[in-house]
Amino acid sequence: MKEIILHNKIFQQHISKEEIDNIVSDLANKINVSNTEKPLFIAVLNGSFLFAADIMRKITIANAEISFIKLSSYEGMKSSGEISELIGINSNISNRNIILLEDIIDTGNTLEKIIEILTQEQVGSIKVATLLFKPDAYKKNLNIDFIGKSIENDFVVGYGLDYDEIGRNLPHIYKLKN
Ligand code: IMP
Ligand code: MG
Repeated sequence: MKEIILHNKIFQQHISKEEIDNIVSDLANKINVSNTEKPLFIAVLNGSFLFAADIMRKITIANAEISFIKLSSYEGMKSSGEISELIGINSNISNRNIILLEDIIDTGNTLEKIIEILTQEQVGSIKVATLLFKPDAYKKNLNIDFIGKSIENDFVVGYGLDYDEIGRNLPHIYKLKN
């Protein structure tokens, strides 16, 4: 099995680029037949940049649009809690049918924050598509409409996913070797 080293850690190939392509095609087909009218795809940066680019080429729904967001977290001046803000929504998305594109859903914390913020914008509907899902780490009850592949609770990199910002450019997905 092919191995690589990132920041002194060993990773082994886990999902080949050919398998990724099949997973992305399956997801696109499911979305294509979902009868989502004039969908606004929203890709969550940075991790989903390759997934978004690849899946969009396979989407055949007429009038599909795409936009990009980033969730930035910062400590509030007084509160001890983390405050999150969505960067990138600069047009009116009220009543739009949103399809979120996520690279990976782990605990679900990120997804929950994004859905919370989008809901405040009075969107028409929100569907969620994720390339990878870690069922054993997921702590939320939010419905995930389209799941590419469920994986074990391993740390993975490649195809957009990073380990301390490196590894996003790798065409295959690798997992941390224990
Ligand atoms: P969550 O909020 O715990 O669901 O985590 C979501 C975010 O954590 C993802 O969008 C990724 O940026 C990051 N993440 C979670 N698991 C992994 C992983 O295995 N590799 C790389 N990034 C990950
Ligand atoms: Mg991410």
